[in-house]
Amino acid sequence: MSIVSFMSGEKIPLEMHKVRMVQKVSLLPVEERVERMEEAGFNTFLLKNRDVFLDMLTDSGVNAMSENQYAAMLQADDSYAGSETFYRLEEELRDIFGAKYFLPAHQGRACENIISRLLVKPGTTALMNYHFTTTKAHITLNGGGIDEIIRDEGLKIKSDDPFKGDIDIVKLKNAVKKYGKENICFVRIEAGTNLVGGQPVSMKNMRQVSEVCREADIKLVFDASLLADNLYFNKIREGEFKDTPLINISREMISLFDITYFSGRKLGSARGGGILTSDEELYTQMREMVPLYEGFLTYGGMSVREMEAMAVGLRETMDMDVISQTPIFVEALCDELIKKGIEVVTPPGGLGCHIDAKQFCAHIPQDEYPSGALASALYIASGVRGMERGTLSEQREPDGSQRLAEMELVRLAVPKRVYTLSQIKYTADRLAWLYKNRDMINGLEFVDEPKMLRFFFGRLKPKGSWPDKLVKKFREDFGGSL
Ligand code: F0G
Repeated sequence: MSIVSFMSGEKIPLEMHKVRMVQKVSLLPVEERVERMEEAGFNTFLLKNRDVFLDMLTDSGVNAMSENQYAAMLQADDSYAGSETFYRLEEELRDIFGAKYFLPAHQGRACENIISRLLVKPGTTALMNYHFTTTKAHITLNGGGIDEIIRDEGLKIKSDDPFKGDIDIVKLKNAVKKYGKENICFVRIEAGTNLVGGQPVSMKNMRQVSEVCREADIKLVFDASLLADNLYFNKIREGEFKDTPLINISREMISLFDITYFSGRKLGSARGGGILTSDEELYTQMREMVPLYEGFLTYGGMSVREMEAMAVGLRETMDMDVISQTPIFVEALCDELIKKGIEVVTPPGGLGCHIDAKQFCAHIPQDEYPSGALASALYIASGVRGMERGTLSEQREPDGSQRLAEMELVRLAVPKRVYTLSQIKYTADRLAWLYKNRDMINGLEFVDEPKMLRFFFGRLKPKGSWPDKLVKKFREDFGGSL
């Protein structure tokens, strides 16, 4: 990675790229923002992108692509079966990750569908460092359950632990004894653990987990969707890899798992996904489902243009200058917020900055969705769209009772190479204003609550008229500013 120091000593996340294509964004006046939030049922997923100034909802499918990715899209080979594009992608994947077989799928959750259908039997449990929403949904849909065995440190907001995504090996061994190997459908490690704040997993931990699973004859599955961020942290925080090329780190990692899958909307900065394995039997079993749910084996629901972009994007993931851009911007945003007294998940991870809504909105009870309320308030105050990652994103218990999330977070994703430092500073400034006025924010309640993945399209309303009060205060404090 290029290290560039500034004479002033200031820590500035320097862009190791230049921008040659841009998209205009607009910032609506605050009075219109509150109207748009109402129309969206106080759910940032339901906002229209045209009404959003900075889209920090996710990094999924919205990372900036390189000139080489766009160039590759032009030479895509469109054919239903046997497309040259597929073989190019397969070859790149084999080289970068060292796995024998590749099955294409239209995105990450499609891989989860295939893996869960194959491995999850009713009554079995999947052990994992932490769940992702779609992962858990697929496992429960197939009659299984999950048990999270992350180290306790992983669930602390403030920490200086470099690998908060690590599995607790004692918890893993105890769980194997408790459930018995025949009742464990698989163990899953998620790189760059999403829902605990984009926290990485160390290679040391992966090696240990792999050893336990091999000894106990339990399948080990790797969710590599956030591998790019994870690799960055392996390189800079895990001394052993200081001088190791990223490709060697990733090959060793993948060799520890029976199955690896990824969302190509994240890893490789394109759109799509896929499953890797070197196990012929698993490959053959999963292969049957690809034409059924995804598409023929040489495209799996992806457009060939995206597959070409993905192949190039994956190769570019092996470049520290490319993968460092998100983590250093996340750190810059976290540092700005910490200076203003706002608590965020530390150490800063990958993916985005994660604000602790339990601290920010300490007065809002968890069953009134403090993270959802804060995400709505932030859009009203700034036009920035973040994502609720708290109780609203949880599934209700089978008896219909509310499951309170362990962490109440608002995630401000930092898509790769998309935003500038002034936009990051603007976000921090509006959050600081909101923090000063945090007592004005109140809770939310459901008006329309879907049964599955309710956070995607559920509609809510504010408890009281706090959004209007917020707008009034904004005008008093900012005058004519947008
Ligand atoms: N696994 C992880 C760790 C993810 O972060 C995601 C998606 C998926 C699986 C599912 O992949 O979207 O391609 O179907 N995360 C997105 C996010 C949605 O915003 O964090 P997908």
